[in-house]
Parts: sequence; C-alpha cells; structure tokens
Amino acid sequence: MSKKVMVLNGSPRINGNTSGLICEFTRGVEQVGGSVKRFDLDRMKIHGCKGCLTGGRNRENPCVQKDDMTLIYPAYCEADVVVFASPMYYWGFSGQLKCTLDRLFAVTELDPEWRTPHKGAVLLMAAEGTGRENDAPVLNYYKSLLGFLGWDDFGAIIAGGFLNAGAISGSPFMQEAFELGKSIC
Ligand SMILES: Cc1cc2nc3c(=O)[nH]c(=O)nc-3n(C[C@H](O)[C@H](O)[C@H](O)COP(=O)(O)O)c2cc1C
Repeated sequence: MSKKVMVLNGSPRINGNTSGLICEFTRGVEQVGGSVKRFDLDRMKIHGCKGCLTGGRNRENPCVQKDDMTLIYPAYCEADVVVFASPMYYWGFSGQLKCTLDRLFAVTELDPEWRTPHKGAVLLMAAEGTGRENDAPVLNYYKSLLGFLGWDDFGAIIAGGFLNAGAISGSPFMQEAFELGKSIC
C-alpha cells in the first residue's frame, strides 16, 4: 500500500541543504507511488508548547493555542510516516522543528491513555561537521525519541560537510535520500 508521508522541514533556508535532501527524498517516495505533504515550518506561525496539559479536547484542533499547527494536525493524523527534516543546530533539531514536535503532543492527549499514534519516522539532516562524534548526539536523541513514541525507524541521513546553502547539491547524500524515499513505500 502506498504511504502518506508528512515532511516537517525545520530549515529556514528554503533552498538550503536540508531542502535538497527533502527534494530528493520526495522524488523517491513519489516514484514508487507514495504521497508527500511538506510543511516549511519557518514560514509558518508555530508557537512553543505551553505545557498546560489541557489539550486533546477537540479532535480537529487539539491544542489550546490557535496558530498554524491547525494546518499540521490533520496531516499528522493521516500520515503513515513523519519526516523530521532539519539542519543540525547545536547538535540538535532546529527550534522550528522542536517547537512543532512538542506541539504534536496535543494529539497524544486525545487518547485517554495518552497513547501516541503509531507512525514510521525518517530523519533528514544537513550539518557542517562530519563524523561519528558530530552525529552521535542527534542520533541518540532520535533513537530515544522513537523509543519513547513507539515509532518505527525507516532511516536516518545526517549529511555532514556542508555549511553554505546548496553546497550539498551533487553530493552522494542526494542519491542516498532518493533511495531512502523509494524504500519507505
Ligand atoms: C545556529 C547554527 C547552529 C549550527 N550548529 C551546528 C552543529 O551543532 N553541528 C554542525 O555540524 N553544524 C552546525 N551548523 C551548520 C548547519 O547545520 C549547516 O550549515 C547546514 O548545512 C544547514 O542546513 P540548511 O542549509 O538546510 O539550513 C549550525 C548552523 C547554525 C546557523
């Protein structure tokens, strides 16, 4: 069955390296019949979670804050796969992506037992640094996050060695992203 994929793009650089990975990944997904909904989070108004624990009352719009998350919740609910796409910022996700991720908790609150809906996950990340030591903090976080959520890992790419926007173009990571996209459907 072809999969519905939601891409949460945490990079503010619309033609940046993360975006390059997303484009190739998307091409791969679509080539095998999957569909992709991409959200460029930096272009959206998404506030940080208030930690009020009073969400989950309204299925359409489960958070008490009303902002552009209202566009993301329906896509999240129907997605089979969630792609965390981000530049590496201080060995973690960008703020744009982290805010969005925290706000998805309102959907978990819809369930009386706080069970998070089951998904597959992908990590697409661009970074300046390279090597195991540079990648380890994010990979550990990603692994712990998926363990906590109970999601399946469909693959992670940390494309190191790229500082300037677009520098990733023509690198082997683009092909890797394309192949990963093809493999998840
Ligand atoms: C605020 C900031 C923090 C960064 N932190 C890291 C870092 O911890 N490790 C790293 O390898 N690169 C770091 N970088 C470099 C970016 O990850 C790199 O330039 C990446 O290619 C940007 O992706 P983009 O083109 O999608 O924005 C940082 C860049 C910025 C602006």
